[in-house]
Amino acid sequence: MFSARVIAAAALIAALPIAAQASQELATSKNCMACHSVDKKLVGPAYKDIAAKYKGDKAAPGQLSQSILKGSSGKWGPIPMPPNPVSEADASTLAKWVLSL
Ligand code: HEC
Repeated sequence: MFSARVIAAAALIAALPIAAQASQELATSKNCMACHSVDKKLVGPAYKDIAAKYKGDKAAPGQLSQSILKGSSGKWGPIPMPPNPVSEADASTLAKWVLSL
């Protein structure tokens, strides 16, 4: 018999790709993809470059969600990111998604 833990783990693994896709759709719907792409620099840095820069940084999820909410400047180049009209929950979801790439 499967334990509840095994079933929960299997459900979590099955849900992961869906979560990644949902976050990309969220980023698209919030206009993030107008300036960013996953693996190419556009107006803003590639999300994969952001993930690489903050790899292993425990403060990164909080810091990046603040950047998404309030904007960011001087970290990546001369172009600033304006504040984005997203909720704190969405900013946190998006920050974690970017860091997972
Ligand atoms: C108008 C263009 C524009 C839009 C729209 C935009 N960004 Fe950015 N983003 C930038 C630029 C430019 C930077 C680099 C800012 C800097 O140098 O500090 C950046 C930086 C970032 C960073 C890194 C911040 C840091 O502290 O290192 C993250 C994460 C990010 N953007 C996510 C998002 C998300 C998520 C959205 C949608 C809610 C979004 N961006 C919308 C242009 C944009």
